[in-house]
Amino acid sequence: MHFKDYITQLPAYKPAKLIAQYGTDIVKLSSNENACGPSPAALTALQAGLEQIHRYPDSSASALRTALASRVDLPPEMVLCSNGSDELVSLLCLAFLQEGDEVVMAEGTFISYLLRTLMMGGRPVRVPLRNYTHDLVAMLAAITPRTRLVFVCNPNNPTGTTNGADEMHEFLGQIPQSVLVVVDEAYIEFATRPDYPDLLPELRAGRSNLMLLRTFAKIYGLAGLRLGYAYAHPTLTSYLDRVRPTFNVNALAQIAGIAALSDVDHVARSRAHANDSRRFFERELTALGLHPIPGETNFVAVDVGDDLAVTEALYQRGFTVTPLTGWGIPGCIRVSFGTTEQNTCFIVALAAVLAH
Ligand SMILES: Cc1ncc(COP(=O)(O)O)c(C=O)c1O
Repeated sequence: MHFKDYITQLPAYKPAKLIAQYGTDIVKLSSNENACGPSPAALTALQAGLEQIHRYPDSSASALRTALASRVDLPPEMVLCSNGSDELVSLLCLAFLQEGDEVVMAEGTFISYLLRTLMMGGRPVRVPLRNYTHDLVAMLAAITPRTRLVFVCNPNNPTGTTNGADEMHEFLGQIPQSVLVVVDEAYIEFATRPDYPDLLPELRAGRSNLMLLRTFAKIYGLAGLRLGYAYAHPTLTSYLDRVRPTFNVNALAQIAGIAALSDVDHVARSRAHANDSRRFFERELTALGLHPIPGETNFVAVDVGDDLAVTEALYQRGFTVTPLTGWGIPGCIRVSFGTTEQNTCFIVALAAVLAH
């Protein structure tokens, strides 16, 4: 057998410890899940949908794509659905990269961009964050004739920071037509700044080298069903359509997605809870003498000194968080917002850990 070197050298995925492994007393604040739970409307729709799971799903997810398209005034051909938005990152790398091709991304961003680039034998070009935020000027300067993709995560995971409309449009205005810009908007629904960039007009105007990634895993609370989607020019969606698995979006995910989209109460509740939690964490972490990174998501990142030791000590006290040393941001931990009670208990635990 001939194994590909660049695949054997990939780090194996290290799964977050499963809840079952933790025991019931462990509070999981490590995967940016929705503390408000799944959309109740989705749960109701799923009950009815269960009766039909002996059938294959609609391979083109047409009803879901139509729903996603109409809410942003795009045609359904400009929507592509996926088995989580993570699958779109894989499909993009599969469809665009040859060995040695370059992919520009931040150092200190969602790890899939790096892993999927390496999976294809691509060359990651990692541009340091500036003030924990994507440095779009430096990312532009990092583009070479070998660059095929640029990933921009806005808001950024794991720092929660955002890039505003002016700098984003300035950046997009200078991207060569030969380079595809992928803006990952997994946390867009939590963004609060008034000048958060709306990139849909670029797509409506026919821009073909831009793709927006979104997910049902965060504000819609459907992480376990695996459902993501992209908005992009029809040339791009039909190109990726050729490489995706035929039934990549399962039947229950399609049903739940459509229901969750119209569950405006759940979305509003989830957003309000994230906003309240953010204010709570900012206040309480500051009171502990820490400096939380100002973010606009359903999690917070903060420098705690020795992130690996603090993560382990928090685990001993019943909380899982994400240490960011492995993400290129040593010293920081990322804490997903839990319920109000979990958040309060977490701060007590962190205070005790830091006091030791
Ligand atoms: C920035 C970002 N993009 C994509 C994803 C993947 O989302 P999904 O669950 O839809 O695969 C995540 C998940 O945490 C994320 O943080």
